[in-house]
Amino acid sequence: MSTPSIKIAPSILAADFSDLGAEVRAVADAGADHIHLDVMDGHFVPNISFGASVIKSLRHCTDKVFDVHLMIAPVDPFIGAFVDAGANIITSHWEAGPHAHRTLQVVRASGCKAGLALNPGTPVECVEPLIDSLDLVLVMTVNPGFGGQTFIDSTLRKIARVREMIDRTGREIDLEVDGGITPKTAAQCIAAGANVLVAGTAVFAGGRSRYAEEIAALRG
Ligand code: DX5
Ligand code: ZN
Repeated sequence: MSTPSIKIAPSILAADFSDLGAEVRAVADAGADHIHLDVMDGHFVPNISFGASVIKSLRHCTDKVFDVHLMIAPVDPFIGAFVDAGANIITSHWEAGPHAHRTLQVVRASGCKAGLALNPGTPVECVEPLIDSLDLVLVMTVNPGFGGQTFIDSTLRKIARVREMIDRTGREIDLEVDGGITPKTAAQCIAAGANVLVAGTAVFAGGRSRYAEEIAALRG
């Protein structure tokens, strides 16, 4: 298999919420490949962020891929709203249950790419029966719910095992990592086989004048 190109997906969870449209334009101009949108429901994860209406209002700000990470349960009743909002990739959690395969089918039938996220404590074997229905696997490198957490080193082994599974398919499935990504952990994740790096704090914390530099630093 050829080496996949590295894509950077800034998570706007760490952006200035009082000026979100300008923030999305700024990271897009600074070289982001995807815009990562973290949806949290206060039930599946212990935090509430934003929903489909906010995503819809940002859609006109950029043509970049909208990578929607749903940290919600249930998932299926809300897929249509995120499709209408302009999502390009919809990733849901294996743990959100109860029918992960059906969720992926519904997402793909809508025309979006389908992603499956795994929490740090979720075994990698969950991917195997679903892999034919997947366009992306998201290996969480922190427990979901908050930005600014510390990268969990043991997830590197999981990334490597998911990369092996993906390569066995012969298909181009993205392997995304999310949580605690810095230039140092980005390099470790890339070495383990990841090709899409989500980063909130590492991109946004230094302010708008540094976005391009921070995104470039993550590419290594
Ligand atoms: C965590 C979210 C992440 C978060 C990453 O539940 O899924 O996308 O924004 O933030 P950092 O990069 O600050 O760890
Ligand atoms: Zn995320």
